[in-house]
Amino acid sequence: HPLDSLNTFRIPARARHYLRVDGAEQLAILRADPVLAALPRLVLGGGSNLLFTGDFDGVVLHMAGQGKEVLGERDGKVLVRAQAGENWHAFVQWTLSQGLGGLENLSLIPGTVGAAPIQNVGAYGTETKDVFDSLTAFDMATGDVRTLDAAACRFGYRDSIFKQPEGRDLVVLDVTFALTAAWTPNLRYAELAKAVEEAGLSAPTPQEIGAIVEAIRRRKLPDPAEIGNAGSFFKNPVVPQEQCARLLVEFPNLVHHAQADGSEKLAAGWLIDQCGWKGKSLGRAGVYPKQALVLVNLGGALGSEVVALARAIQADVKARYGVELEPEPVFI
Ligand code: EPU
Repeated sequence: HPLDSLNTFRIPARARHYLRVDGAEQLAILRADPVLAALPRLVLGGGSNLLFTGDFDGVVLHMAGQGKEVLGERDGKVLVRAQAGENWHAFVQWTLSQGLGGLENLSLIPGTVGAAPIQNVGAYGTETKDVFDSLTAFDMATGDVRTLDAAACRFGYRDSIFKQPEGRDLVVLDVTFALTAAWTPNLRYAELAKAVEEAGLSAPTPQEIGAIVEAIRRRKLPDPAEIGNAGSFFKNPVVPQEQCARLLVEFPNLVHHAQADGSEKLAAGWLIDQCGWKGKSLGRAGVYPKQALVLVNLGGALGSEVVALARAIQADVKARYGVELEPEPVFI
């Protein structure tokens, strides 16, 4: 089955088997098939956070379940549930149109609802975990349908249990968020706060914040419908405070943000930019001219070309700053 249109990098690849999944029933049938159940699995949402470096010799589970509903109120929050296959941005807009706040900073992120908890999707000062209530997952190992709360999901920066061996068999079916009508904007991210101020909004609504986040993203990030990409290609590296202090002596403009545990998060985009990679290319893979953290398919690129570019960038950043950049998308 061709996967070209199922990954936003638009890398050519094929899967041995493909199954469109609307709910637990199909997963139970798959589990009962001794041949299919023994094959490697790839759970696919919007395909916006992966890079195919070859064909996939297993079963692709394309999560397509649709549906969203308001469940009711609990502890002053409104619980809203969506099926895994719902488009993320359409879901965010649906919540905002009902006056519910919480997801506005996560506007315009490509992908699906079911994928959001996998890497604890985050942007502009909000992470999925901040508005997450619980999720339902099918356990391919036991055949059980399980409910996981935030603690069970073990969320971290671009991380969760679903990226660990213990979560390998869990397939997310639906996600519930705790939103609020009694809302205050989250303007911790300086760039967003500045844009809100410039728009002259003294009492913005969730919808207005969402529109501003969209405008910022459209300015800086390539639209996957036009240019193949998977968003940030590297995680922002977290380094010990001493290492950051040493780097600041040599590079006083180094962008860094102190973390709660005393470590420092560096801006990978800044490091790559400083190494001169912005707008450069290697084969048919390039560094996006408006945001050095995003690698793009210049047209017809193979996964191996993107990998070669990524390796070259990692080597340069390591040589100049002694910092290891870790890819953010999953390599398949
Ligand atoms: N910078 C440069 N040159 C560049 C890019 C960035 O100097 O080419 C500097 C910026 O000036 C800024 C700093 O690096 O001082 C950080 O840049 P920015 O605010 O654009 O955010 P980011 O660290 O590049 C992260 C997330 C994005 C998210 C934004 C906004 C990661 C890996 N990336 O990017 O997430 O949208 O913050 O919150 O954490 C994604 O994960 O796919 C993604 C797009």
